[in-house]
Amino acid sequence: MSHEKIEKNIALMGVLVAVAMSFGGIAEIVPLMHQAEAVQPLPGVKPYPALELAGRDVYIREGCYNCHSQMVRTLRFETERYGHYSLAGESVYDRPFQWGSKRTGPDLARVGGRYSDDWHRVHLIDPRAVVPESNMPAYPWLAESAVDGPTVRSNMEALRTLGHPYSQAEIDGAAAAVEGKSELDAVVAYLQGLGKNAPKG
Ligand code: HEC
Repeated sequence: MSHEKIEKNIALMGVLVAVAMSFGGIAEIVPLMHQAEAVQPLPGVKPYPALELAGRDVYIREGCYNCHSQMVRTLRFETERYGHYSLAGESVYDRPFQWGSKRTGPDLARVGGRYSDDWHRVHLIDPRAVVPESNMPAYPWLAESAVDGPTVRSNMEALRTLGHPYSQAEIDGAAAAVEGKSELDAVVAYLQGLGKNAPKG
């Protein structure tokens, strides 16, 4: 019997398992590529302003995503805790996107506006100062490192070549927008912007 032949031949079985799995993958991925709403920004979603973009880079550099997802799932207990579930149209200007699934800490997709800037500053410098049971690492060096204007500017230029609609004025103003700002200022600006264009509810 042919089935018996497959089960007794590990190499053949491996190849056929891979083929079967790729059909599943194709069935999930191909329709998404043709779905306009998966690639259109939601109303109000714009490329990150200079300071938030710099903060996002710090977020990635420091590995915040190792403990924090930015994706509210379509489950009742999630939407009651965090707010509206995440939509692809919120993340069109995220390269790479930060959805993730690792949650040592809470999801951050809707954290913008939940706390004051001061709360975030204290929390990032010493999480235990505001949440005594926290096991989040402290990031005191962020307050001492300055954001580099020319780097932010060239990042914005690079993103524009990928299709982010930055205006020339935004790019020319990038260095001035981050002048005198620390990496801590940048991360706080980034966090406060998260979820601000999410649908309400
Ligand atoms: C080792 C895991 C870990 C890492 C890495 C980590 N966090 Fe956290 N984070 C947590 C935990 C646990 C909490 C919940 C306790 C608390 O509020 O401190 C938390 C809470 C938070 C909160 C409050 C969320 C809320 O809704 O109350 C923010 C904002 C936050 N983290 C931002 C960051 C940023 C920015 C970074 C990177 C610079 C980062 N975290 C890195 C574990 C982590």
